Amino acid sequence: MSITTYRIAILGCRGRGTAAARAYHAHPRTEIVGLCDLIEERLKTLGDEVKVSARFTDLDEMIQQTSPDIVAIPTGTEFHYDLCMRVLEHGVHIEVEKPMCVDLVEADAVIEKAEEKGVQVAVHHQGRVGASMQAIALAFNAGKIGELRYIYGSGKGYYGGYGLMNIGTHMLNNMLHFGKQCKSVFAQLTTGGKPITPEDVIPSPSGMGTIAGEYITATMQYEGNITGTLLQHRFNKMDTGAYSMELYGTEGRLMWKLGNAYYLPTPHYIPDGTNDKWESLDLIFPEHYDPKSSASEMDYWFVEDYVNALDEERPHVCSGYEGRHVIEMMMGIFESAAYGERVNLPQTDRSHPLLRWREEEGFGSPPKMPRGYGEWVNLESKRIG
Ligand SMILES: NC(=O)c1ccc[n+]([C@@H]2O[C@H](COP(=O)([O-])OP(=O)(O)OC[C@H]3O[C@@H](n4cnc5c(N)ncnc54)[C@H](O)[C@@H]3O)[C@@H](O)[C@H]2O)c1
Repeated sequence: MSITTYRIAILGCRGRGTAAARAYHAHPRTEIVGLCDLIEERLKTLGDEVKVSARFTDLDEMIQQTSPDIVAIPTGTEFHYDLCMRVLEHGVHIEVEKPMCVDLVEADAVIEKAEEKGVQVAVHHQGRVGASMQAIALAFNAGKIGELRYIYGSGKGYYGGYGLMNIGTHMLNNMLHFGKQCKSVFAQLTTGGKPITPEDVIPSPSGMGTIAGEYITATMQYEGNITGTLLQHRFNKMDTGAYSMELYGTEGRLMWKLGNAYYLPTPHYIPDGTNDKWESLDLIFPEHYDPKSSASEMDYWFVEDYVNALDEERPHVCSGYEGRHVIEMMMGIFESAAYGERVNLPQTDRSHPLLRWREEEGFGSPPKMPRGYGEWVNLESKRIG
C-alpha cells in the first residue's frame, strides 16, 4: 500500500460539513487539506476549528490546488447531483450526503461518471456502519436470531413522503444490510385519510425532489423469503423513539435504535418470565476512536470504512450502488402507490414516477412550496384540511 494518509477536501462547511470535518480531522488515516464554502464566515469558523488554512469559495480551485483523494459533499440535497458531477470530473473519490440524489436519472448519471473516472462514490448513511449497527451485525452473523424472516423499520414522524426521502433513506439502507437486495416493493400512501391522487404530488421540503403521501406503509420483498415493512407516518409531534429497526429471526429478535442495540432471545415476546428480556448489546467502536473527541462515532465509523474500502480497493459499505438502490426503493414506493401495483426493481423507466403520473393524469408541474419544513407543513396541513 503506497498511501498511508488520505487527503480530504470538504465542500460545504455548515452543519453536516462540520460533522464530516470533525470525523476526518479525528481519524489518524485522513488529513483535511482544503475547505470550500460560498460563505467566508463558515469557512473561517470550521477552518479555525479543524486547523485548516486552505480555504476556498470555488470548488474547482480547491481541488486543483489541494489534490484531494476524497471530496465530501455535505450540501443541500438539491445541489447533490450538480456538485457530484462537477467534482467527479476531477477524477476524485466522493462522499455525498443522503439522499444521494432526488431521482434515478440523476443517480444513474453520478454512478456512470464515477465508473468512467474509475473512482468510488459513498453516500453518508452513517447509521449503517455506526457502533450500534456493528453490534447488531456481530450478533446477527453469530446466528443469535437464527434465520432472518422479516425486517421492520420506522421513521420519526415527519410528513410521510418527506420522511421517506429524509429519514427513510437511512432506514432502507440499514435494512439492506440484512435484506441484501430488494426485489420488489408494494406500498400504501394516504393523504388526508385517502389514497393519494395526482394532486397530492408536491415538491418536498429541503429540496428533496418530488414527494407524495402523509402516511406511508411500504412492504419490501428481499431475496429469498425475507420481507420488510417501512413506516413513514406523520405524527402530531416528532418522536425519535420511533426511529428504529427490528430483525425478526426464527430464534430471536434484534433491535437497532440510534446509538443502542438490543437482543431478545425468543422470536415471540411473551412476558412470562422466561427468556423474555431485551438485553443490551455492547457497542463496537474502532479501537482508535476517542469518545471525548468532537467526532460522532457514526461519522467516525463512516470515515473508517472509507479508509478500509480504499485500502482494499472495494466500495464503501454505504456505496453509491447502495445509495442508488435505496432511491430505486423510494421511487418504487411512490410508483406502487400511484399506480396501485407491485413494482419490480430495478425499474426500467428511471424517470420520477410521481411526475410521470401527474403528467399522464393531465396535471402540469406541481405548485411551488416553501423550502423550510415548518412553513411547508403548515401550508400542506391547510391544503388537506
Ligand atoms: N447524514 C445525516 O445524519 C444527515 C443529517 C441532516 C442532514 N443531512 C443531509 O445533509 C444535507 C444538508 O447538509 P447541511 O444541513 O449541512 O446543509 P446546509 O445547507 O446547512 O449547508 C451547506 C453548505 O454548503 C455550502 N454550499 C452550497 N453550495 C456550494 C457550492 N457550490 N460551493 C461551495 N459551498 C457550497 C453552503 O453555503 C452551506 O454553507 C442534506 O442532503 C441532508 O439530507 C444528513
